[in-house]
Amino acid sequence: MELLYEGKAKKVYATDIKNVLRIEYKNSATAFNGVKKDVIEGKGILNNLFSSYFFDLLRKEGIESHFLQKISDTEQLVTQVTIIPLEVIVRNVAAGTLAKRIGVEEGHIMKFPVIELCYKRDDLGDPMLNDDHIIALDIATFDELKELKQKALRINEVLIAYFKNFNLDLIDFKIEFGKTADGEILLADEVSPDTCRLWDATTKQKFDKDVFRRDIAPLRETYQALADKLGIS
Ligand SMILES: Nc1ncnc2c1ncn2[C@@H]1O[C@H](COP(=O)(O)OP(=O)(O)O)[C@@H](O)[C@H]1O
Ligand SMILES: [Mg+2]
Repeated sequence: MELLYEGKAKKVYATDIKNVLRIEYKNSATAFNGVKKDVIEGKGILNNLFSSYFFDLLRKEGIESHFLQKISDTEQLVTQVTIIPLEVIVRNVAAGTLAKRIGVEEGHIMKFPVIELCYKRDDLGDPMLNDDHIIALDIATFDELKELKQKALRINEVLIAYFKNFNLDLIDFKIEFGKTADGEILLADEVSPDTCRLWDATTKQKFDKDVFRRDIAPLRETYQALADKLGIS
């Protein structure tokens, strides 16, 4: 079937079912807006595994998403949406660009989960927007923005509680939402260690893409260790 879009981490294909797409998770790893890249055998399998698992987990907690079914090691079927071009970021602990931007130590605990909204535009380096920009530029309406934030905070609660069972702290994550043909807003894209930061609560060991970004440890082994820890296979 027709390849509709190839991104940095996934390929998106049409299917013969109306409003259903096939997503293939690739073995490529990228960081810093594509400046650092590598091919990592087995990464697609692991991220398809994680993403399918987390979409299932979130659905059990009442959070609907585009996820329909895992159909192979590297592929899943999803509901087609029109992606709202925002990266919705939730930060429980300062790390990465936030720590750098405001000059706090990585690991500084935020008083409450802080939401950041970035314009999904690789050509502009995904600039941060405020609510006024988003509404004034028709990227989302006031009500949609409210819904995105509510959903993001609920997802944060569910994931924090889940990871706590494994002595892991959810530092931050990035999600994307899309609108279905009926106008419903669904969590879309992926939920994986590519799109979050996870630290061992005791040792602060990283179980996310920072091991690749910063050349700390091999990515595949790190993701496999996370899958083993969570009992996902
Ligand atoms: N259900 C969906 N319907 C349509 N597009 C989607 C859906 N889920 C994810 N996408 C889009 O698929 C593209 C491919 O993903 P990815 O490789 O992660 O891209 P990127 O390089 O933009 O991060 C992204 O633009 C993402 O927003
Ligand atoms: Mg992506």
